Amino acid sequence: MKNAPPRKGPTVAAKPVAERVKRLVVLVSGSGTNLQALLDEIAAVGPEAYGAEVVAVGADRENIEGLARAERAGLPTFVRKVKDHGSREEWDAALADAVSAHEPDLVISAGFMKIVGKEFLARFGGRFVNTHPALLPSFPGAHGVRDALAYGARVTGCTVHFVDDGVDTGPIIAQGVVEIRDEDDESALHERIKEVERRLLVEVVGRLARNGYRIEGRKVVIQ
Ligand code: GAR
Repeated sequence: MKNAPPRKGPTVAAKPVAERVKRLVVLVSGSGTNLQALLDEIAAVGPEAYGAEVVAVGADRENIEGLARAERAGLPTFVRKVKDHGSREEWDAALADAVSAHEPDLVISAGFMKIVGKEFLARFGGRFVNTHPALLPSFPGAHGVRDALAYGARVTGCTVHFVDDGVDTGPIIAQGVVEIRDEDDESALHERIKEVERRLLVEVVGRLARNGYRIEGRKVVIQ
């Protein structure tokens, strides 16, 4: 009997590799742990496999851990404070210019606690992603964790969504659920939400970058 040909190993579907590594500008206002999760994943798997790299980090204030994390990673940073500009519109345009200088494919608001204006959205609408610590459309705004707790909700979580001209109203990309415990206070609950949120943001941004997407009304279709 003829020997059987040597068996080949199992066929493994290659991870889709983006045609071009997408450029991310990340905006922060605080501790920057979501930014760090992105940086860690990109460092672990490499920008080609992830499909994107962080090219700059911007903030609306100085002396925050989010900027320190960017500096430690050797990334360019910029700060645009509202109070340094004559009006909210001027600040918005200055922020848009600073972001634009880094030619991003996607802009990620990772704990950026400012609402951007018309000019910013005109330039980055449809590619500006925000992460919010509640299950939208419940509990939008600056106190998503506190508001869910005060309401007595039994579950909350996080929402990654595209930004539109409302407050946390844009098309939803993905959500993660977190149970609220009787003993929770705002800080304990926020920490558990952030564990889910960091994983979700890393997963979603990678998929958007590698696969491409389209926004059909309120639906986001990742190709
Ligand atoms: C995150 O939980 C994010 O959802 C929230 O700030 C935290 C930032 O954490 N953003 C908002 O509340 C926006 N309305 P981080 O600085 O450690 O990434």
